[in-house]
Amino acid sequence: MLEKVVMDKLEEELSKYLDSYVEWILKVGNYILSSGGKRLRPILVLTFSKLLKGENEDRDYPLAVAMEYLHTASLLHDDVVDGAETRRGKIAANRVFGNDTTVLTGDYMYANALYLFSTYGDIDMIRNVSDAVKKMSEGQLLELKKIGDIDMTFEEYFQILEGKTAVLFGSCCYVGASLGGASQEQKESAYKYGLNIGLAFQLIDDLLDYTANEEKLGKPVCNDLREGKITYPLLSILKQLEKKEVDFIKTVLRDINPDKEHIEKIKNMVKEKGGFEKTFIKAKELVNKAINELDNFPRNEYLNQLENLAKYIVERDF
Ligand code: IPE
Ligand code: IPE
Ligand code: MG
Ligand code: MG
Ligand code: MG
Repeated sequence: MLEKVVMDKLEEELSKYLDSYVEWILKVGNYILSSGGKRLRPILVLTFSKLLKGENEDRDYPLAVAMEYLHTASLLHDDVVDGAETRRGKIAANRVFGNDTTVLTGDYMYANALYLFSTYGDIDMIRNVSDAVKKMSEGQLLELKKIGDIDMTFEEYFQILEGKTAVLFGSCCYVGASLGGASQEQKESAYKYGLNIGLAFQLIDDLLDYTANEEKLGKPVCNDLREGKITYPLLSILKQLEKKEVDFIKTVLRDINPDKEHIEKIKNMVKEKGGFEKTFIKAKELVNKAINELDNFPRNEYLNQLENLAKYIVERDF
C-alpha cells in the first residue's frame, strides 16, 4: 500500500524495537510479527503524518511500530479468549506456546508500545492512545458478556465494535496527524476518520467470518457463531424471523459444541434474508462518513491514498 522502501523500513523497525533479554518474549513476538498481516495501523500513522508534512521523519517509525505492537498484543489476547486455532495462516500462538506465555507476551507488547510513546511521543498522544487501550479491553469484555444473548441491541453491538477495533484505528490517525503538526480540529477529524473506517473494518471482518475462504482469510471462518457471538449479519435479520427460528438460533448459540449442519443452517438463513448485503451497505455508509472527514485536510496524493484505503476496507476479501 505504501512505497516498498517505507514498508521495508517499517518491517525492520518492527523487529528492532522488540528487544528483551527473555527469549520467550522474542520467540512468541517474532512468531506472530513475522507471519505477516496487513499492517494497516502503522500505514495509517505514516500516511497521516505524510499528508501534512510531505514526508516521514525518523520519529514517525517507532510510533507507527508501537501501534502495530498494540494491535499484535490485542491479537495474542484475542486468540486466547476466542480459543483460536489459526492466525495469519499459521497455527495461532496460543496453540504453539500455550495461553500463559501468549498472554504474558501480549502484556509485554502493550507495555513496550506505551514505553515507545513515552520516548518518542507527547503527553497528548499518550492520553489518546491509553484511552484507546482502555476502551479495547472494555469492548472485548462487553463482547464476552453478550455471548449467547439474542436480545443484544444494535447500540450494544456498535459499542463493542467501537471498543475492540475502531478506537485503535482512530488513535493511529490521531497520532499520525499529530506527528504531521495538525491543528486540534484536524486531529479530531483524523480520529473520526479512523473510528469510522474501524467500525466498517470490523463489520467486514464479521461478514467475512460468514463468507470468506478460510485459507485466504488465514483464520477460522464461522467462528463467531460457534462461539455464540451475534454479529451484524445475523443481528440485521433477526426481526424478520419467526419465533421458532429465533429459538433454534438461541439453542445453537448456547451450544458449546454446535453441529456443523446447524451452523450452516443459520448461515443460509442470514444469507437468504439479506444479512450479508445489509452488512456491506452499513460498512459502505461508514466509509463514506470517514471520507467526509478528509475535507479538513489538504488535497494531495496522500489524501487520495487515505480515500482508497477507506474504500479498500469494504472491498477486501481477507
Ligand atoms: C484482525 O485485524 C483483528 C480485527 C480487528 C478484526 P486485521 O485483519 O487488521 O489483522 P492483520 O494484522 O491483517 O492480520
Ligand atoms: C477483533 O475481533 C478483536 C481484536 C481487537 C483483536 P475478532 O475476534 O473478530 O478478531 P479475529 O476475527 O479473531 O481476527
Ligand atoms: Mg478472534
Ligand atoms: Mg474476538
Ligand atoms: Mg472476527
